[in-house]
Amino acid sequence: MSNIDLDYQRYLGANLSLDLTRGKPCPDQLDLSHGLEDMIQGDYRSRDGVDTRNYGGLAGIPEARELGARLLDLDPEQVMAGGNSSLSLMYQYLSFRQRQWAPSEAAPKFICLVPGYDRHFSVCEHLGIAMINVALTAQGPDLSMIESLVQKDPLIHGIWCVPKHSNPTGHIYSPETVQRLARLPLLTQSDFTVMWDNAYAAHDLHDDVPALDNLMAHAVSAGTEDQIAIFGSTSKITLAGAGLGFCGLSPTILAAFQGYLEPQTIGFDKVNQLRHARLLKDDNTLKALMDAHRKILRPKFDLVDEKLKPLGDQSLASWSLPLGGYFVSLDLTAASARQVVHLAGEAGVKLTPAGATFPYGNDPEDKNIRIAPSFPDMMDLSQALDVLVCCIQKASHDAASTPH
Ligand SMILES: Cc1ncc(COP(=O)(O)O)c(C=O)c1O
Repeated sequence: MSNIDLDYQRYLGANLSLDLTRGKPCPDQLDLSHGLEDMIQGDYRSRDGVDTRNYGGLAGIPEARELGARLLDLDPEQVMAGGNSSLSLMYQYLSFRQRQWAPSEAAPKFICLVPGYDRHFSVCEHLGIAMINVALTAQGPDLSMIESLVQKDPLIHGIWCVPKHSNPTGHIYSPETVQRLARLPLLTQSDFTVMWDNAYAAHDLHDDVPALDNLMAHAVSAGTEDQIAIFGSTSKITLAGAGLGFCGLSPTILAAFQGYLEPQTIGFDKVNQLRHARLLKDDNTLKALMDAHRKILRPKFDLVDEKLKPLGDQSLASWSLPLGGYFVSLDLTAASARQVVHLAGEAGVKLTPAGATFPYGNDPEDKNIRIAPSFPDMMDLSQALDVLVCCIQKASHDAASTPH
């Protein structure tokens, strides 16, 4: 038996139960926002005198809209402050938009950059929207390919983007990419939307991270602002399950979207909006909180890079070195991602299912694995990465010794 097989047998007998699947903040990160608890103290009135405990105010209280505007680089009147999830705003927005699409026998389509965020793909699947893969290159989205697709096919109604610290690759879109994306709706007759999920806008792990150009400003110059939908949340700033989601739209579309939401809710949780607006009262407070997150997260990302190094030396894998966000994207050279995820699972290390970073769960090359290092503590993370490396070595070795 080879040394790798022996190591693997040892892990099988170790009764591990480790999880590298979802990008969740760890308990220490959640504790950073304990101040939320003290933000009300019996004073429920928002700045404009509204009692936040009561119904109403679908667009959100002014100070929460301002918080969203700071986070997403928008004007407050372009922002709706919602409930605890930007993902649900994305779903609702897309189903609102879908009502304006010309009826057609064939399914409407969306462009999905791959590897990408699995829950965007689920939204499309759920709404009956077919997905077209476009690969992210080292430079980011391949705009020439996207422009040509959009020009040729009027059934394409939009594109999903995670522009800064892309999930899972960590890409930050260049200024030229942002400008061309703002002009994309001009190239098609269809009702086209750029779904701009800026979930990691404030989530830098390094100094001197390149700034993201302002998509909405470019869209206003190009006259496409009604075709831009921007999203973000405090899920990875305060509390992942009880944060604040935002969407940014042109004022005309914001009013129309509000009309669409009106039969669904009389208003989001304004008490939580008030709590958040008070906690994150200015840029300095937000920056201090994100610096505290970074202190916890950065060693975990450094550990991933350090532990994967032997795989690079043996040309068995390459991986992203994100400057922020929550993920590392790992591409295998020789082994099957499905096989590695299976081996790791047997050894008690849960990985995001292979294929999850592609529409329909189908990674055509079966090579991508998304690593989410935020939740486990350093000890668990270290052990989980050792198992992962061993599984990749074993699966690569097994693949090389299996006759074709
Ligand atoms: C790119 C991206 N968008 C949205 C979300 C979820 O956001 P929310 O918690 O605001 O619904 C995540 C969570 O992992 C994400 O990675």
